[in-house]
Formats: sequence, structure tokens, C-alpha cells
Amino acid sequence: MATDRPRVLSGIQPTAGSFHLGNYLGAVRQWVALQESHDAFYMLADLHAITVTQDPAELRANTRVAVAQLLAAGLDPDRCTLFVQSHVPEHAQLAWVMNCLTGFGEAGRMTQFKDKSAKQGADRTSVGLFTYPILQVADILLYQAHEVPVGEDQRQHIELTRDLAERFNGRYGETFTVPRAYILKETAKIYDLQEPTAKMSKSASTPKGLINLLDDPKATAKKVRSAVTDTDTVIRYDPETKAGVSNLLTIYSTLTGAGIGELEEKYAGKGYGALKTDLAEIMVEFVTPFREQTQQYLDDPETLDSILAKGAEKARAVAAETLAQAYGKVGFLPAKH
Ligand code: AMP
Ligand code: TRP
Repeated sequence: MATDRPRVLSGIQPTAGSFHLGNYLGAVRQWVALQESHDAFYMLADLHAITVTQDPAELRANTRVAVAQLLAAGLDPDRCTLFVQSHVPEHAQLAWVMNCLTGFGEAGRMTQFKDKSAKQGADRTSVGLFTYPILQVADILLYQAHEVPVGEDQRQHIELTRDLAERFNGRYGETFTVPRAYILKETAKIYDLQEPTAKMSKSASTPKGLINLLDDPKATAKKVRSAVTDTDTVIRYDPETKAGVSNLLTIYSTLTGAGIGELEEKYAGKGYGALKTDLAEIMVEFVTPFREQTQQYLDDPETLDSILAKGAEKARAVAAETLAQAYGKVGFLPAKH
């Protein structure tokens, strides 16, 4: 792997049995593309996953399912470094330093934390959830990443990463690369099919608007055909007034490569039914091989584990070097071996 390539790092939490369409279009698809042009590090954020209660057996199983899905989506362990966050202890070690650099009020302004903790109530909200974004900062800075491919909901966390990198560099001397968010405008936010003004999310109030990639393709087709649109009949991209149709056009366009304008023309004079029927078919064609490939990887846990072992080794080599530099800058006395 050429080391003169710019570096990317991103992560996904293994908290559900399946990725949803928002994860794929908003993030994972870009990960696959970037492994061709960048020195890419992708991680299963299992430390982040336990900020809300997880069943241990499920977490273990979901971590393997997540790796299998990333491979099925097109990540190639020869082109990128794929690893599990808890296999690299430097993440938690750098997170402590970053915790000590973050203001209490600053952390309290993170909107994802505010939303999640408001939903759960203060008693069920862990301190881990509060410091979640700061662990994410450590994830990114350890690899000196230039870019972080994520969906729009992560933008504030990347801003925090930039602030803390600059603060550390200012206080202790140049140490960390200040990263940029890599967010594609078109797919930054994929919306729920039933509630097209809300982000598609595994915590949606009803599963009817959530497309899980590993679900039965027939059920997925049905969800697409019953997507909420509007009372008008014109197929036009206009997220302000036609959120449902615009979301379907975005999904259609990204999965097929057809331009939005091209699709508007193709469906001119046709009703929403035609658009939904075609998109349902496109989706089935996408998820069917995806599910099969995921299952094939899952059937071979030894290969999965060896990919992760190699990934952890490559990740640790980079992470350990950065951590040693940061610890030195902070003033920790080096341990003699
Ligand atoms: P998570 O499931 O929260 O670990 O998210 C993994 C990745 O998917 C992150 O980069 C998110 O920003 C992205 N993501 C999650 N939901 C959506 C969505 N509805 N639209 C676009 N990107 C999303
Ligand atoms: N917080 C991210 C999410 O929920 C996952 C994540 C953890 C991440 N560490 C990261 C994303 C580092 C980018 C970089 O989507």
C-alpha cells in the first residue's frame, strides 16, 4: 500500500444485526470508493457500541455480521485496513487524554448526545455516552487521518475532532493532522420511507420506513412500494416540498448511476407507482447478492478472524506510534522496558 496516499478513517457501530440503507449510501459506499485512492482504515466501533446497553453474545455476533457486510459491500482487506476498535487498546488510551482536553460544556453541546440522552432519560444515560464523541476524536487522530467519510449526522463530531486536534497542537506542539469531514451532498442524509423528513435510523418509531440490507428482499420491495410520497403526482426532485419523492430519486440515482434529471425525464407523465415499482426491483437486485455474499463470509469465521487479526496488527502499528508521540508531548514519563 502506497503510504504517500492521503489517509481516511471511518467507523460503524456493530449495534444492529443489519446495516440499513442510510449506512450504506451515506457512508459505506464511499468507504469502498476511497480504498482505491486513499490509505484507508475502517473500523467496527465496538467500544462505542457499549455506550448503550448491549447483550454480550449479540454484540459478538453483530461484530462478525458487520465485518461480513463490509466485505460484501466491496471492502477489500488487501486495499484497506479493516479492524475492530477494541483490538487496538490505543483508542481508549488516547481518548483519556482527549477527555482531559475537552470542556464539560463543550461535550454537553453535542446534539447526538442531547437527543439520545433526552430519549433515554438521565438515569439511563451513561457517562460513556457523554464522552462518546471524544472517543471518536481519538479514533480519528490516532491515524492522522486527512478525511473522514461519514453521513451528515456525524459532522459535529468531526468539527470537535478538528477543534481538539488544533487545541492539542497549540498547547503541546504540532502532533495531529487536522481532519476534514468527507460528506457527499447527495447521500449525506437518507430519509425514512414512511416519514421522509426524518433520517433513516435503526431507532425509528416503526420499522416500515427502515430498509435493512439483510432483510428478506420481498419485504424490502414491499416497503419501497409503500413509501410515503405526497398528494401531487409529479416526479420532481425538490426536497423542500417533495421530501418523499426526492428521497426515492436520490436512492434510485445512487444505486443505478442515473442522474436525477435523467430520472425526472424518464418518469415524466408516469405516476409514483411506476417509480416505486422500478425502484423496488432495483433494490431487490442490490440486496439479493449482498445478502448471499454476507452469508458466505459468515460461513467462514476463520477467514473473517484472520482478516481482523491482520487489520488489528496494521492498525496498531500506526496507532502506537501516534499514541507514543502524544503521551510524550503531554509530559508522561516514558516507561523503560
Ligand atoms: P451508525 O449506524 O450510527 O454507526 O452510522 C454509521 C454511518 O452511517 C455514519 O457515517 C452515519 O453518518 C451514516 N448514516 C447513518 N444513518 C444515515 C442516514 N440516514 N443517511 C446517511 N448516512 C447515515
Ligand atoms: N460515531 C460514528 C457513528 O455512529 C461511528 C464512529 C466511531 C466513527 N468512530 C468513528 C465514524 C470515527 C468516523 C470516525 O456513525
